[in-house]
Parts: sequence; structure tokens; C-alpha cells
Amino acid sequence: MMIQVILFGYFLTCVSVDGFRRTPATLILRDVPVAPDQSLETLTPFVPPSIPDPDAILLEAKVSSPQIPDAHVLLHADCNEQEVTCELSRYSPHGPQEAQEATHFLVSLSVEGGEFSTAFILQTSVVERDHSTLIQNKLGLPLSPSGTLLTEVIFLVFSHIKSVSAPLRGDVLLYCGFRQQETPLAQEVAVEWRLQHRGKGWKVFEMKTRLDDAEGSTVVLAERKGSSVNASLVVGQGDASLTLSRLKALDEGTYICTVTLGPFNAQQVIQLHVTQPPEVSLSEEKFVLKTDPPQTLSCHCSKYYPLDAQMEWWSLSPEDSEPKLLLDQGSLSSHRQHGDGSYSLSSHLSVPSSVSPGTRLTCRVSHQALDAPVSLTVVVESPTQGSYWWVLGFLIVSVLFFHQVMT
Ligand SMILES: *[C@@H]1O[C@H](CO)[C@@H](O)[C@H](O)[C@H]1NC(C)=O
Repeated sequence: MMIQVILFGYFLTCVSVDGFRRTPATLILRDVPVAPDQSLETLTPFVPPSIPDPDAILLEAKVSSPQIPDAHVLLHADCNEQEVTCELSRYSPHGPQEAQEATHFLVSLSVEGGEFSTAFILQTSVVERDHSTLIQNKLGLPLSPSGTLLTEVIFLVFSHIKSVSAPLRGDVLLYCGFRQQETPLAQEVAVEWRLQHRGKGWKVFEMKTRLDDAEGSTVVLAERKGSSVNASLVVGQGDASLTLSRLKALDEGTYICTVTLGPFNAQQVIQLHVTQPPEVSLSEEKFVLKTDPPQTLSCHCSKYYPLDAQMEWWSLSPEDSEPKLLLDQGSLSSHRQHGDGSYSLSSHLSVPSSVSPGTRLTCRVSHQALDAPVSLTVVVESPTQGSYWWVLGFLIVSVLFFHQVMT
């Protein structure tokens, strides 16, 4: 079943006299496929204005070929209270051009929450002009009898995930796909992945291939060690996903996937977050009170990423029913950074001799890579009979020794 969908967006004029002024525009997507079980009651069909308005920007596009993957997500964004972001701008194909009859627009469309994002290029369709044809005021383009600008999607790049988290030293797949109209725009395809982080940017991967001869023509022009894009998937399925292996903290940032097909290109942006939960350990497995305080109990958080980790000391004495946050939270070591970018941190707690045996001392660690805080506990034990006698024996021996020396 086919239905019509309307989406409101903003028109970003790039070449008109308005410069970069943002003007409201309407994008009418036709032929969005709808699953049989989807309810259509909440959808309002597009009704063309009874008197076409040459000032209004109404872009009408068919999305059946090439199909925009997951376009049905758009239909339910409203019910799910997800915001749809739509931006339109004039697009100029680059490189040497034959006299171009058509005008192009670039549309960026995404649904809040991130499971749908696409950038596509619209090409104006040929409109038969006669004396009654209206011309759009700002764009100078002929309008259809219902006042819309008729276009076709010719090329699109999409992603179904805007943000990915992966562990240090692990592997990750950053998804980026593309589709083009049935009559191929070009046989050469280039895939480029760039990383931007803290104001710096560099190329992670670049590849060129031909859609008609992937075997013979694939050239990898740049790559980070351990990165790859599968050329046969690029050619066979329009899948330009990037695999990164043995992740380091430095791999974190904003990835930009650019697919270039002949004179056209479009991009998708994906955030990669590297996370690694801390390994938490205590310096003592058994904590036996000694007679000569203070004794130190240390809690170590090792090899985690990113930097923010919170360590807390709690105690639960036999008299109490609830654990208490200790007033003295110990002293923190400075952060140590390892070769892979991960951090380690220790907290040293001076345990007062007044602590009663049976008290449970807990180190509690919170970090964004942990689903829940990790708590490690030792129970304070009174000096055992054996060690008590040992200490007493040692004292007697010392006293005797000094007695001998002095006399
Ligand atoms: C690329 O993808 C094809 C098709 O899925 C697969 O058969 C092949 O093993 C992949 N190549 C690499 C190097 O992963």
C-alpha cells in the first residue's frame, strides 16, 4: 500500500540573493511504503493549496526508486514525539558538467533518537511549460499545476545509527549505505571516512572502485591501520560501512562518511564513543587490625575510559543497620594514562585503629561504562589469637634483647 506523507522543514538558500537566510519550506514525500500493520489514522495526507502560491517552497519527491531505507520511521516520528529535522539546500554537482538542464537540491533528514538519518540529492523533473505555468519566485523554477516543484531522488546516503559505543581494544562497525536511481549516475564510486575530534580532522580511510569492475579497479588510497571497507559490499549492496579494529582512545570522535558517485556526493555523520569499564580491586583480601595504626586500605581502578570515574568509601559497623559514607574519603593518586589511552586511579584510605572488628569497608566505583556501580568489601577482623601471641612474643623478645644490651 502506498500513501503520501508530508514533512515540514526549512529551506536553506545558498545561491539566491537571500544568502544563508533560513526560509520555511515543505517537502512532500510520495510513495513512502507503509507496512500492512501500521496505522495510518494519525497521518494527514498532503492537500495541495487551491490557489498555487509562487512564494511557497513545496518540493515534491518520489521515494520509491531508489527507496529510502526505513522511511516508515518518519511516519511514526510524530506519534513517538520524536523531532524530525529536515534541511534543504541548493546543490551543485562538481567536476566537468555537460550542460545541465536540471536543478539539484540536497536534503538532510533525520529523526531524533538517531535510528533514521539520510542525506539525498533531488533532481528537478522536466515540467511541460505553457503560458499558465507558474514560476517559483525565489528559485526561478517552473511549478507543477498544484504549485509544487517536482523532483526525483537520484542519490542517497543513509545510516541507521548516529552514535556507537565500543570497548577499548575491541572492534566496531560504523554503518553507512548508499543508493542511486535505476539509470546509474556513474560507474566510479569513492568512499571516504574522516574523523574529527577536538578541532582536528584526518582521513581514516579512502577507497575508489568501479561499480562494473570491483575486482580490477579497487584502490585503497589511505587507511588507518586496522580499518577496512569491503569493496564487494560497496559494489554489491551499496554498503560503505567502516570496520575499525583494536580501538584506541584516539579513535573516538565524529566520523564522516562521504560517498561520491560521479559528480554527486553526500555524507553521513556518526559519533564513536570509546568506553572501557574499570577493573576494580582492593589492596587486601583480608583486613586484620594491627596494633600499630594507621593501616591503609587501597582501592584500585584500572584501565578505564573515559577519564571520569567516581570512587567512594562506605562503612557498615556491626551496630549500624545502614552503610555510611565515610567522612574521610581517603586520598586519591594522580591519574595514570596507559599506551592505549586508558586511565588508572587509586584511592588510599587510612583505617583508624578505633574501627570495630566486624565492620564492613566498601569501595564503590561508578563509571559510565558500568551498568551499575561496582562495590568491593572487606570485613575488618580482630587480630587473631595466633598473631596476638606472635606480637606478644616479639615484644618479650625485644624487651629481653634491650635488657641484655643495656646491662
Ligand atoms: C566482503 O563481503 C563479502 C560478501 O559479504 C564476503 O564474502 C567477503 O568475505 C568480505 N570480505 C572481507 C575481506 O571481509
